[in-house]
Amino acid sequence: MSTLETLPPKIATEPAIITEDLVRTFGEKVAVDHLNLRIDKGEIFGFLGPNGSGKSTTIKMLCGLLTPSSGKAIVSGIDVRRDAERIRGKIGYMPQKFSLYEDLTVRENIDFYSQLYGVKGPKAKRRKEEVIELVGIGHYRNFLAKQLSGGWKQRLALCCALVHQPEIIFLDEPTASMDPVARRGLWDLLFTLASSGVTLFVTTHYMDEAERCSSVGYIYNSRLIVSGGPDEIKQVREVIGQGNIHLEVVCKPLVKTFNLVKALPYVSDVTIFGQALHVISEHPQVEMLLAEDLRDVAVQVQNIREIQPSLEDVFVTLTKASMAEEEVRMRSAAEAKPLNALSTGFDDEEEGEADA
Ligand SMILES: Nc1ncnc2c1ncn2[C@@H]1O[C@H](COP(=O)(O)OP(=O)(O)OP(=O)(O)O)[C@@H](O)[C@H]1O
Ligand SMILES: [Mg+2]
Repeated sequence: MSTLETLPPKIATEPAIITEDLVRTFGEKVAVDHLNLRIDKGEIFGFLGPNGSGKSTTIKMLCGLLTPSSGKAIVSGIDVRRDAERIRGKIGYMPQKFSLYEDLTVRENIDFYSQLYGVKGPKAKRRKEEVIELVGIGHYRNFLAKQLSGGWKQRLALCCALVHQPEIIFLDEPTASMDPVARRGLWDLLFTLASSGVTLFVTTHYMDEAERCSSVGYIYNSRLIVSGGPDEIKQVREVIGQGNIHLEVVCKPLVKTFNLVKALPYVSDVTIFGQALHVISEHPQVEMLLAEDLRDVAVQVQNIREIQPSLEDVFVTLTKASMAEEEVRMRSAAEAKPLNALSTGFDDEEEGEADA
């Protein structure tokens, strides 16, 4: 029996989602590679990673829509491999692509999902009005889904995912086509849901959204590279390189200075962030050196200060490290191959000679 099954059921600390070495392959392609996650109840978990890194595949496995190739996933206390059907009643799923009925009205779409999830009787009427109010879609209730803008379609999809009062909601890029005001509105809604004990699993490409999550995971090339609270991840020096110093340099002209700073030998990375440069260096005197070097080339420096790395800094650094590791691995595999082939060839010849 695994340690998961020995956990007492329904204790306060029981996680909402737990995965152990979860794998999904599509032919030769490993889409999710030995994923280990633990997400507590009431958390807003942000799942980040580049296109094709395995986020949607993970969500589909956790929702019981895609069978894992190996490993384990427990969602709301249920094993996804054993009882995917029962999981669907406990979760809400808002897919990456709009999946509602375009020719039905907002109200009809909500009615349909309410029936699908078995929400019946007077309770259903009350619940439908509750979600309509919560999401703020009331004045569109008689509009056809296809008449809604992208942002409102997303809100309708959320309404449909909420109607059966799920314990966990999976949202796959819910704010992809939303304007900043709508995005903020949706996040306010997610906070409201989380404060009532609902667990949220959200994928996003937006770093500001990641910063709002109580915990985040970053997946690259199908593998989880790091997970934890946003502040926790930034504090772990080993994650971003021992001794790395992050500086914010407010200066003019920005782009020209960016190119100058990029060429400095003691600077390991530089990027433009709004009206400033973010500089990473391992040199303990970087602040002084940079001030001197920029003065020498007549750059107007308004301010240089040490800052905490952003989540983007952390992910970029980790991605580069992973890419470098992968390159070394592939190079050594490529180097090993001809050698093997060579030695096999010699062996064959020797065997051939011996046989002759
Ligand atoms: N049904 C499928 N058949 C074959 N390959 C698939 C299938 N679904 C996903 N993949 C592959 O698995 C990998 C992970 O895809 P996935 O959709 O999970 O990525 P993602 O992180 O959600 O990307 P995005 O940010 O673009 O939404 C990709 O290489 C994709 O091409
Ligand atoms: Mg996706």
